[in-house]
Parts: sequence; C-alpha cells; structure tokens
Amino acid sequence: MKYFIVTFGCQMNVHDSEKIAGILEQKGYERASSKEEADIIVFNTCAIREGAEDRVFGNVGALKKMKKERPDLIIAVCGCMTQKEQTALEMKKKFPFVDIIIGTFNVVKLGEYIDKLKESRKKQVEVFEEGDIDELLPYKRTSGENAWVNIIQGCNNFCTYCIVPYVRGREKSREKEAILSEIKELVKSGKYKQITLLGQNVNSYGKDLKNPCSFAQLLSEICKIEGDFKVWFMTSHPKDLSDEVIDVIAKEDKILKDIHLPAQSGNNRILAKMNRKYTREDYLKIIKKIKRKIPSVRLTSDFIVGFPTETEEEFLDTYSLIEEVRFDSIFAFIYSKREGTVASKMDGQIDEETKRIRVNKLLDLEKKIQKEDNKK
Ligand code: 5AD
Ligand code: SF4
Repeated sequence: MKYFIVTFGCQMNVHDSEKIAGILEQKGYERASSKEEADIIVFNTCAIREGAEDRVFGNVGALKKMKKERPDLIIAVCGCMTQKEQTALEMKKKFPFVDIIIGTFNVVKLGEYIDKLKESRKKQVEVFEEGDIDELLPYKRTSGENAWVNIIQGCNNFCTYCIVPYVRGREKSREKEAILSEIKELVKSGKYKQITLLGQNVNSYGKDLKNPCSFAQLLSEICKIEGDFKVWFMTSHPKDLSDEVIDVIAKEDKILKDIHLPAQSGNNRILAKMNRKYTREDYLKIIKKIKRKIPSVRLTSDFIVGFPTETEEEFLDTYSLIEEVRFDSIFAFIYSKREGTVASKMDGQIDEETKRIRVNKLLDLEKKIQKEDNKK
C-alpha cells in the first residue's frame, strides 16, 4: 500500500505533512512516487489567500476521473482550508468522491479515520476540536539536511486580514524539555546540519507554559547542545522581538544571522487598521537596532498591498519603507479577503487592477535593490 501527499502553503504545513507521512508509514504505507501509484492521496491545504484555496479545489477536482476508475483509492483533504466548517462542507458537496475531510486539529487522528473508512466505507467529515499538542507522533522527515521543529502552535494576534488564528487556534507552546530532547536526537543522528524552529509567532514562545521560558532562553539552551549544526527560526512579530532575542542571535555562532520580520505596511493608519500594534517608527527602530548589533544580518519581510481603504499615498509609505531598510528579499502579497476576518467586513475594498499594479511596483523595487547590492 502506498501514499502520496500534496502540500500547499507554509513551512508549518510542510512539517505537518511530515507528520502525516509518519502516521501513514506507521500504518504500513510506503511513499509513492506519483498519484497514479498511490492507494491513498492526501491534500494538506492552505487558507491564507483565495488563490491557495482555488488551487486546492482545482487539484482535488482533477482526481474525479481517477477515483471513478479506481474506487478503492482513498482521497483525504485536511489542513487549514478544511478546518473552516463552511469550506469543508463545500468540499463535501462539490466533490462527493472525496473520502475523508478533516481540519488541522484532527490530522493526528488520520489513522483512525482510515480504519473507520475501511470498515464502513462511509465518508468522514470532521472539522473541529482544538486539542493539545501531540508529542508522541512519528515524523517522516523530508527536507534533506534541514529539520523542522515546532516550538509553538497557533496565534493570538488576530491581525484583521488573517485567517490563521481561526484555523490554527490559540498559541500553545511545547514544553522546553520536549523541544530540547527532540533537537538533541536530531543532532545525534548526524543527518541534519540545520534546525529550523517553527511557529506563527516564535517570540511569544513559553508565555503560556506552567514554567514560563522566554524565546531567548530557549535559543540559548538550544545553542548549548553539542554538535555541528545551525539554528534558524520563523516567524517573528515586530512587536514581540525582544532585545534579549536580538542579543542571543548576535552572540551565538550557531544561530543564522537571517531574520524574517514581516512589516506588512509602512503606513501608520493601515498598520493600525491591520491591528499590528506597532508603528512605522517602531519598526524602523527595531531594524536599526538589529543592524547595529548584527552588522552581517540578512533581513527579509512580508508586505500586503491593497488592504481595504489603502490610498496611493499610503501605499507609497510601504514603498519608501522598503527603500529605507533595503531588505535582502521581500514577499509582497495582494490583499485577499478572507471570510470571517475583521477586514473582510471593512468598506473600501480595493479593486484587483490597482492591487496588481501596487504589488508589481514592490517587486520591481526589490529587484532594483538586489541588483544594486549585487553590484556592490
Ligand atoms: N491577504 C494577503 N496576504 C496575507 N497574508 C496573511 N493573510 C493575508 C491575506 N488575507 C500574508 C502576510 C503574512 C504572510 C504569511 O501572508 O503578509 O505575513
Ligand atoms: Fe496572521 Fe498576524 Fe498571527 Fe501572523 S501574527 S499568523 S499575520 S494573525
């Protein structure tokens, strides 16, 4: 019996797919090299923008014929998109040939759903139940010399454009001991040269633990683990990136001097409407501090253009922020309305053409900066 996993979205999803692969291998499945060869196909989905959801619908829909020819093929859809009940039900209605539809929180029970399906041949649709972090799951790692390690799940920030808090739940940190022993094992195995710590907001790490531990403390302890490896992490929220964390990055040779710090906008009115809880000036102050303490730093960021009511002038504040910081690279996104978020109910949604022009301006600016820096 063989499995094939199709992953959409961020590193968190890539790592979740390693968990899904681990669960399937425990059940005796082997990795297939194509969908045609597989007895079960799992789609691990992303909900961050409408485009991501459209791609999932397209990819799942394309399997209709294959399922007709091979009725025993199991098709499962899971992850952020199907964590939304409405989308899960829409998926069920649109694609009646899909066997299992589950959300982010019950992916851990995929094995049980497969057993139930085989017993009854009845479709499984289940979405909710925010549970605890499961420490006992096996991972089938797939990212070469890099090993992903979850340190905190969920997000409490509720940026007004973002669906993540609704589909990943509230922040839940893993126990420090569990993280350290996982990393020790990974380093001991000799297979990994890089450990990448994952979380929607890694700087919030440890605040919710019974014995609180800061992210800076965690980083220091990880660096004490003996062995030849580098540490990286993502993602940081500018309002939570503490001086202690910057100092640890500056001091520890094991930590890569590479910071991803999403700014989203360079305009204060838009930042407030986004509920980002910092101003352009706060952001620039942190960048200045980082550059002073870590001169070799590589800085990257995320930006959203066309947030509801964003004027041309306000967009140009984002443009000038990028010019001022001169990021090594940026991710520029067109604002995508996400049902259920605060921003989706705001007046003044921006038309698609304006958004496209704005995003292209940012990407051109990024290219210009990179060209100038490469010359240097
Ligand atoms: N529309 C466009 N981009 C978004 N992001 C999050 N939500 C949206 C949305 N509704 C972007 C942010 C975030 C990155 C992972 O995705 O820039 O940092
Ligand atoms: Fe979304 Fe904001 Fe949380 Fe990032 S910090 S996951 S953008 S709500």
